Amino acid sequence: MSPRWVLLLLLVGGVGQANEPIDALSAAGVDPKQAGLNYMLNCQGCHAVDGRGLNDIPTMADFVGKFLTVDGGRAYLVQVPGSANSPLSNHQLAEVLNWVLLTMSQPQLPQPFEPYTAAEVNDYRKQTMSDAAAVRRDLLAQLKVQ
Ligand code: HEC
Repeated sequence: MSPRWVLLLLLVGGVGQANEPIDALSAAGVDPKQAGLNYMLNCQGCHAVDGRGLNDIPTMADFVGKFLTVDGGRAYLVQVPGSANSPLSNHQLAEVLNWVLLTMSQPQLPQPFEPYTAAEVNDYRKQTMSDAAAVRRDLLAQLKVQ
């Protein structure tokens, strides 16, 4: 095969792969540039660029979507201090969470995935979570993960 064909195949393959999350993001109303920037400024310092988590911070990559499959998980992702106490508006936080879920943990999401809305984030944010670690342990027990 000539190098030119190989290049063409690589390009087509690459674009095909990139389309899937982009479609899911636009269906969820997420602007990936804006969400990525807000993640970088507000979350990345602890969660790392790819969501693997620095030091003792839990890994979101290939995992965080599972929380949406158990009772209380949807509220937890908003009420966890890093989310709830961020300076992001409800709209921006909904967008960042949808972006995290779709770009870092899409295979683990329940189907159909219902994106967070600003109104939903607003409701959850009104209730504070006093013991994130305890809530997390309870959710992991429901997920049968320790
Ligand atoms: C100062 C460090 C820090 C920052 C900044 C931070 N987080 Fe976190 N995050 C944590 C820790 C620690 C946990 C584990 C739960 C807990 O103890 O608060 C966590 C848990 C989470 C979880 C639940 C995942 C799990 O496995 O428990 C989500 C979702 C999350 N953070 C989202 C965000 C988002 C979105 C931002 C940015 C708006 C953010 N975090 C900023 C430290 C941080």
